[in-house]
Amino acid sequence: MSKRRRGETRGNGRGSAGTRRSTPVNPKRRDGGGGGNPGRVAENYRHYEATSPMRPEIGTQPQFRKKKPPTTYRYDSSLSPALSWDGQNPDREIAEWLLRLISEAAALPAPHAFDQPRELRAADGTVLAAVGSLQEAVEQLRRLGRPFLDWAGKAERLSFDVPTLPLFIHERLSTKAIVETLTGHKRDKQQSMFELFGDPQHPITDQTLRAYEYPDKWVNRLVLGDSLVVMNSLLHYEGLGGQVQMIYMDPPYNVTFGSNFQPFVRSRDVSHGDDDHMTREPEMVKAYRDTWELGLHSYLTYLRDRFLLARELLTVSGSIFVQINDENLHHVRSLLDEVFGDDCFIVTIPIKKKGSQKSDLIDPVNDYLIWYARSPRDSGLIRFTPVYLQRQLDADLLGEFKFVELPDGRDVSIVELRAPDGTERDYRFRPQSIFEDYPGARLYRSNPLTSGGLRKNQSVPYEYKGRIYSPGPGRCWKTTAISDDGSPSGMDRLAQAGRLIAGEGQLRFKSYLDDFGYVALSNWWDRLGGASDPIYVVQTNSEIVQRCLLMTTLPGDLVLDPTCGSGTTAYVAEQWGRRWISIDTSRVPLALARQRLLTATFPFYKLKDETRGPAGGFDYARRRSKAGREVGGVAPHTTLEHIANNEPPKERVLVDRPEIERSIVRVTGPFTFEATIPTPVDWEGDGVPDSGAADAEAYGSFVDRMLEVLRKSPVLHVGGGKTVTLRNVRPPAKTLSLSAEAMVVNGDERAVAFVFGPENGGLTQLAVHEALKEASLKGYAHVYAVGFAIQPDARLLIERSAEMGLPPATYVQATPDLMMGDLLKNMRSSQIFSVCGLPDVELRRLPDKRYEVKLAKLNLFDPATMAAKHMDADDVPAWFLDTDYNSLCFHVSQAFFPRTGAWDDLRRALRGEYDDSVWDHLAGTVSAPFEAGEHGQVAVKVIDDRGNELLVVKRLRDATA
Ligand SMILES: C[S@@+](CC[C@H](N)C(=O)[O-])C[C@H]1O[C@@H](n2cnc3c(N)ncnc32)[C@H](O)[C@@H]1O
Repeated sequence: MSKRRRGETRGNGRGSAGTRRSTPVNPKRRDGGGGGNPGRVAENYRHYEATSPMRPEIGTQPQFRKKKPPTTYRYDSSLSPALSWDGQNPDREIAEWLLRLISEAAALPAPHAFDQPRELRAADGTVLAAVGSLQEAVEQLRRLGRPFLDWAGKAERLSFDVPTLPLFIHERLSTKAIVETLTGHKRDKQQSMFELFGDPQHPITDQTLRAYEYPDKWVNRLVLGDSLVVMNSLLHYEGLGGQVQMIYMDPPYNVTFGSNFQPFVRSRDVSHGDDDHMTREPEMVKAYRDTWELGLHSYLTYLRDRFLLARELLTVSGSIFVQINDENLHHVRSLLDEVFGDDCFIVTIPIKKKGSQKSDLIDPVNDYLIWYARSPRDSGLIRFTPVYLQRQLDADLLGEFKFVELPDGRDVSIVELRAPDGTERDYRFRPQSIFEDYPGARLYRSNPLTSGGLRKNQSVPYEYKGRIYSPGPGRCWKTTAISDDGSPSGMDRLAQAGRLIAGEGQLRFKSYLDDFGYVALSNWWDRLGGASDPIYVVQTNSEIVQRCLLMTTLPGDLVLDPTCGSGTTAYVAEQWGRRWISIDTSRVPLALARQRLLTATFPFYKLKDETRGPAGGFDYARRRSKAGREVGGVAPHTTLEHIANNEPPKERVLVDRPEIERSIVRVTGPFTFEATIPTPVDWEGDGVPDSGAADAEAYGSFVDRMLEVLRKSPVLHVGGGKTVTLRNVRPPAKTLSLSAEAMVVNGDERAVAFVFGPENGGLTQLAVHEALKEASLKGYAHVYAVGFAIQPDARLLIERSAEMGLPPATYVQATPDLMMGDLLKNMRSSQIFSVCGLPDVELRRLPDKRYEVKLAKLNLFDPATMAAKHMDADDVPAWFLDTDYNSLCFHVSQAFFPRTGAWDDLRRALRGEYDDSVWDHLAGTVSAPFEAGEHGQVAVKVIDDRGNELLVVKRLRDATA
C-alpha cells in the first residue's frame, strides 16, 4: 500500500490533510480509534494505465464537424452458408471459385499451400473469401454445405448500414466527488474536484476540433443509445475493435414487448395492453415494432446484427455470454454458431431461476447462458480462470462423502453414526450437527486407487497391514508400490499419511473433504446467491454475471454490456475492478443503473500494485480461521499425487476472495453518462440546414412527417387524463420560423402555432425566439415547441415567454420514434408526445456566503386549462445538482433520491465519519451548502418517473438572500 503515483494519492486530492480541517473525513484513521468508531474512508479504484479517446461534451455538438458516413457491415457468406446454385446468391460464385482453387492446389506439392493467400473480391473490392491452402479451401467448401437457419429477409440482407455517430458526454458522476462536495470542499481544490470526476477539462475548441484524437484517462461509461449504433461508434470513432475482453448480453427474450421493458423508474409492474404502461423509448419501440411486423424473423435479424458487431469488439482471448430463455435458446445458438463459428462455442449454462413451476404441463424453471469465445475452443487463446465454489454441507455432499473419521480415530459410515450418547440420529438431514457433536471430525470418501494399464513399479502387489493387495490383471496403482532406490514408495507414503483404506479385497484412497473444500464451477448453475431485491423487472442476479466475469476477465480488463438494464454488469465489473461500458436505449433502466452505481459500496480488494490500479491484480493470501479452516483466497489442494510424491499441496487461487482492506469503504469510481446524438444538419442554428441538398430534403421530409403525425394523432395526451385536441393542422402560409399551425378545440377555439425540431439535436434558443416573435405578430394564442431535445436557454425562454410579452409556450417532448417513417402507423398519440414541465428551483445565498438549492416543486403545464400544475419535489425519483455548471457537461456534485434509503449503505459504512445532516440532504429536497464556482451558475436536473431529464440553470447573481 505504499507506492503511489505522484499527485494521484489514493485519496485523490486529500494529500494535504492539514489543509482539510473543515472536512469531517478522517482519512488516516484506520486504527478503529475514536471511541469505537471504525474510521473508514471512501475510496474508489482508478484505471491508471488505460485510456480512451477524448469524447466531446454535450453542448459542443453544433460545432462538431467530424462526421462519418454510415458503416456498412457485410455478413461473411461463408459463415452464413446457403449453398444455392441457382440464383444471384454469391455462395455459388464462392463455391465455384473454391472448387477451382482445390484443383489448382491439389497439383501443388504437399502441404498444398499457395505462395500468397488467394482472395475473391466483390465488384466493390470487398473480400468475399480468402484461402491459403488446399486444406482451407476444402474447409470453406464444407462450411458452405452445412445446414443453416433461414428466416424471412435473411437472404436479401447480405449487408446492412449503421449510422456512424459520435458519443457526447452528458454527465460526469463520481460518488467520491459527491462525498467531498457535501463535506464543504473548498473551491481552491477545484482541480482535484475535476480529477475526482475524471474530467480532463479540455477546452471547447479541442472538444470540437480535436475530439477523438487525444487519449484521455479511462473512466467507465453508461451510454444511452441503440446498442448497434453505440457499438458501431465504439468501433469506428474510438477504434475499440478487438479490445473488449467480455461481453454480457441479456437481450429482450422474445417478441412480446411489455415483459422486457419497464416504463417507470419506480414501478416494476408491467401490465400488458395498458397504454400507460407502454414504454415511450424510441429504440425499443422501434425494435418492438420490427419484431411485431415480422415477428421472430425480425428478432433474429436484430440479434444477428448485434452479435456481428459484438464479435468485432472482442479481443482474440475474449468471450461473450448471451442470456436467453427456453423459447429462443435454439435460435440464438444457431445465430451465434453462424456469427462466431461453431468451433468457438464453449458451453450452454442452465441457470435455475425459480424453485417450482405452476403450469399444467411443465414450464422451465431456468434461463440459459450461451458462452462463445472469439477464438476457437481448442485454440489455447481463450482467457479463462477457474472459479471454485465452496462445497455446501448438505445431503448431496453426504451422498458423496459417506464416511466420517471421528476425533477418537474411529471411522464410521454417516448412516451408522450415532450421537455421542449412543442415541439414534440421522445425520444426513442435519450434516452440520456432525461437527457440533464431534468437533474435529473429518468427512471423507473412499476413492479408487487403481487404474487401467501396466506401469513400471505400479503394476505390482502391495502389502498393507500384513495382507497382500494386487492392482488386478492389466491394471496399476495410481502411484508406485515399490521404488528403485529403496526410498518409500508412493503407496508407503499414502500408508504413512493414513490415507489407505483396506476395503473389500482392495485398497482404496481416503480423500477428505478438507483436502480441498471447493469444487470447480461446472455449467450447472442451480445455487445462486447474490439475489437482492431487484430494482428492475428483468434484472439479472448479480452472481451470474460475477461468475462469467471472474472466469473470463482479469482486473483492469474491459467489459461491455449492450443491454445494460439496471446495470448489473456495470455493478459487478465495478466491484471487481474491471473497466466497463454499458449501453441501453431506455432512460428508465439507465436511471436505475445510475442510482445503483452512484450509491453502491464494495469491499476494497487490496491491490498488488497501487500505482497500477486494478490492472496490477488483487492480493490473495492463505489464511486460517481460529478453528483451523482455510478462509483465505489461496487454498491448498491436497491430492493423492502430492502425498505420494511427498510434495506440498498445490495452492489454488479462489478468485472471488481477494484480501480486503477493511478500513476503506469502496465506492464506484468516476463514470460518465453519454449518448449518441446525430451530428447536426443545422450548424448555424438558423433553422436552415446547411450541409447540402440531401439534408435540406431530409429536413423537409421531417417537417412533412411531423405534420402528418399531428394530423393522424391530433390529441396530445398530457398526463393526468388531460388532452389537447388539434384540428386543421397545416403548414402556416408565408412563414419564416413556424412549422405548423392548428386550432385547439378545448373550450374556445384558438389558433396555435408549432415549431419543430431539429431532427438531429436540440431546439435552440434562436429557433424558439424567432417562432415566438412571429407567433406574437400573427396573433397565435400559444406556441408548442416540439423537439427531441432542447437546449437549456431555449427552455428558459419558453418558461418566460408570457412574462416577456410573447405568446405563452409549451415544450413538447417528441419521442424519437417519430423519425421512424411508416412505423408510425400503429402509434398512439400518447406515445408520441409528452408535455414536459420544469422544476421550480430556488437558489439561496446563505449568510456565510455559501449557497443552497431547494427543489420546490415540479411545474407541469396543463394545456387543457392552460394552467400550471405542481408535483411535490419529494415525489421525484431523483434530482442532481451541478454547483458550477459550465453549460456543457453536467457534473453531478450532489445527487438526491428523495424519501428513499438509496444512500443508506454508504451512510452506514461511513458511520460516524459524516454528520447525519449530510445524508439527510441526499434524501431530501434541499442541497447541502456549497460555494460559488467559476461559472457563476448552477444547474439542477430532475429525473421524472419515465426517466426524462428536466434541466434548469440558475445564475448565482439571481440568488435570493
Ligand atoms: C433483459 S433487459 C437487461 C437486464 C439486465 N441484465 C439487468 O440486470 O438489469 C434488456 C435491456 O435491453 C435494452 N434494450 C433493448 N433493445 C435494445 C437496443 N436495441 N439497444 C440497447 N438496449 C436495448 C432494454 O431497454 C432492456 O433494459
